[in-house]
Amino acid sequence: MNNWNIDQVPAQSGKVAVITGANSGIGYETALGLAKKDVEVILACRNLQKAAEAKSNIVNQYPKAQVKILKLDVSSLREVGEFANQFGRQYEKLDLLINNAGIMMSPYKVTEDGFENQLATNYLGHFALTGLLLPLLTASPGSRVVTVSSLSYKWADIQFDDLQAQKGYSRRKAYGQSKRACLIFAYELQRRLSAARYNTLSVAAHPGLSQTNLDQYFPALIRPLGKLFLQPATQGALPILYGALATSIKGGEFIGPDGFQELRGYPARVNSDDYSKNRKVAQRLWQASEEMTHSYYLSNIVEGA
Ligand SMILES: NC(=O)c1ccc[n+]([C@@H]2O[C@H](COP(=O)([O-])OP(=O)(O)OC[C@H]3O[C@@H](n4cnc5c(N)ncnc54)[C@H](OP(=O)(O)O)[C@@H]3O)[C@@H](O)[C@H]2O)c1
Repeated sequence: MNNWNIDQVPAQSGKVAVITGANSGIGYETALGLAKKDVEVILACRNLQKAAEAKSNIVNQYPKAQVKILKLDVSSLREVGEFANQFGRQYEKLDLLINNAGIMMSPYKVTEDGFENQLATNYLGHFALTGLLLPLLTASPGSRVVTVSSLSYKWADIQFDDLQAQKGYSRRKAYGQSKRACLIFAYELQRRLSAARYNTLSVAAHPGLSQTNLDQYFPALIRPLGKLFLQPATQGALPILYGALATSIKGGEFIGPDGFQELRGYPARVNSDDYSKNRKVAQRLWQASEEMTHSYYLSNIVEGA
């Protein structure tokens, strides 16, 4: 996979992809890359005006691109349900689900469902969305779910006794926990898909450190400095595109940049710590996520248990 890029991929006509948070940064570049390869892209965005701008930017570059916008605030279980219903009315299958939307180190906020906002946006909404779209994913042989994690997964374990940070809120820990949950989820989803004998693949990916709007909650003085060191979002999107399109993907893998400390570079298979692969933690998180989101799927399927 040396210096893999999207130009190595043949046209993917007939495929349909949903990308959450597709109007900016990694999500936008992923949608653009998929559109370049003739994938029909559904921009799942909370802000319709920003989504319309993203759509016109994509179509300006690739006039034949098939681009649709469907409203989704992924931090709201009601909107996740409405999105899945709408998508299901319009499509009979889904080839690629890119669980990308995210916020980083935002001030403490509780969502309409009673969840801490970073956990809700980065993880719980995507857990529910994946479950609701699973019948359409499994209707497409070889479909894939790519869940965007981060190097910041190392910042926190899963605080099972205080998942919503009610006992005390650290912006950094809440982000770390949410991104760790994404990684654990991607691994566990693959185990459960395999055990259920579906050939849908689940992949985790991270973009290293990339220039996007993710730093919106950082102090104003730091933001310009960060931009000096970060790789462009086009490069950051490559591990996600690799996870979605590369033929060598087997599922249950974690893809990140191949450079120093995985901060930048071309897509490569990367490792993660033991806690992220711990089955007991994964099963506990899965069950807790089902209960919190009321989205029960691939339950009681525990490979090798
Ligand atoms: N940039 C990096 O270096 C880096 C590193 C590691 C991981 N990541 C991950 O990469 C993913 C994409 O982030 P990014 O860096 O591309 O940042 P970004 O430019 O801020 O993009 C984030 C996207 O998520 C959307 N979003 C946020 N909350 C949402 C919600 N409730 N419902 C629907 N969409 C929502 C944003 O929409 P709005 O425009 O409406 O806010 C935006 O489209 C995130 O999961 C992030 O954790 C990024």
